[in-house]
Amino acid sequence: MTETTPENAALWLPKRGARFELGPAPYTAPAAGEVVVRVRAIAVNPIDGMPGFAYRLILPWLNFPAVVGSDVAGVIVEVGPGVTRLRPGDRVVGAAGGIEQNRNRAAEGAFQRYVVLKQSMTATLPDDLSFEQAAVLPLAVSTAASGMFQHDHLALPLPTIDAEDRRETVLVWGGSTSVGSNAIQLARHAGYRVVATASPRNFDYLRSLGATATVDYHNRTAADELIDAIGDSPLAGTLAIGNGSLKPTLTIASAVPGSRRIASAQPALLTRVSSLLRRHKGIQVSSIWGGSLKDNEVGPGIYVDFLPAALAKGTYQAVPNHVIVGAGLDKIPDALDQLRKGVSAKKLVVTI
Ligand SMILES: NC(=O)c1ccc[n+]([C@@H]2O[C@H](COP(=O)([O-])OP(=O)(O)OC[C@H]3O[C@@H](n4cnc5c(N)ncnc54)[C@H](OP(=O)(O)O)[C@@H]3O)[C@@H](O)[C@H]2O)c1
Repeated sequence: MTETTPENAALWLPKRGARFELGPAPYTAPAAGEVVVRVRAIAVNPIDGMPGFAYRLILPWLNFPAVVGSDVAGVIVEVGPGVTRLRPGDRVVGAAGGIEQNRNRAAEGAFQRYVVLKQSMTATLPDDLSFEQAAVLPLAVSTAASGMFQHDHLALPLPTIDAEDRRETVLVWGGSTSVGSNAIQLARHAGYRVVATASPRNFDYLRSLGATATVDYHNRTAADELIDAIGDSPLAGTLAIGNGSLKPTLTIASAVPGSRRIASAQPALLTRVSSLLRRHKGIQVSSIWGGSLKDNEVGPGIYVDFLPAALAKGTYQAVPNHVIVGAGLDKIPDALDQLRKGVSAKKLVVTI
């Protein structure tokens, strides 16, 4: 920046298993292909609230002190060399990649006032979409999109705002989760019919996102109900989200015509053990890493080519609905406490 350098602050994680601490942070200028965003809203995700054992298991590479968090919305203040698509003043939402193994730096963690984002993982926002509502999107969209569109997962064609209907079905187990809500919409935008699970209180919500059939995952007959709902429309692929999602989705994928690929959002180890134990022949179960799309064509396919247009045109909803927990970085631990108690078709957000 040519003027005075902005004063940054971050919610630091000093070491593994420690408590978050609010403190000053350096302002990091964007490198080639990067932008800096003045953050206005941050959403929290299950992984953010597990700094102890789970971080050792899931993020063993993480450098400390760390700034974690994935979901930000705000205003661009500076763009790096080669960035022409975005300009200072643009309202954006973006996926912060600080915890990724091949990024692994505090400057790119969401929990701070000025964050460095990859331009290819940053989408412009229409004026009528608030920062608070937009912040619900990044990790949920990224996880659903990695699972659905990467070649190592379901390998479906990328979404567009005017996709032609295909005569195939995508199964989303866990449709009312943040990941599932976005999976339903992405699958619809890729032209697929969608069948999904949730608690009955969320059936209308799932239908509003484009699901044609909804099943209560608590029912012992849920797998059979889904097999009926899929009918003779071949399965294009399955997204397994939430505890206990692998067993029934393995049963379903082996009972209906079509793709035998299941992309699982559960931890990799759990996915591997759980699918090995069942040894369903011919079914390919893969484990999603929600940040992997940043390293392939799916990241820009979603954040550059699809999301800005779909949000502007109103064909894509920023869901689930946000709930503001408080204002200020120091309210993030409260949001994480609340998230640990559980949410239903909601995303917890802190304004900055
Ligand atoms: N692999 C990755 O990279 C990655 C990235 C992000 C998230 N995840 C994982 O994906 C899952 C969803 O995350 P999220 O942030 O989207 O969750 P979330 O929005 O916080 O999930 C809340 C929802 O979970 C649903 N739910 C509760 N138990 C369920 C079950 N046994 N099966 C299916 N749905 C259930 C509830 O549905 P009802 O209220 O309708 O009952 C509720 O709407 C979590 O396990 C998370 O750890 C993985």
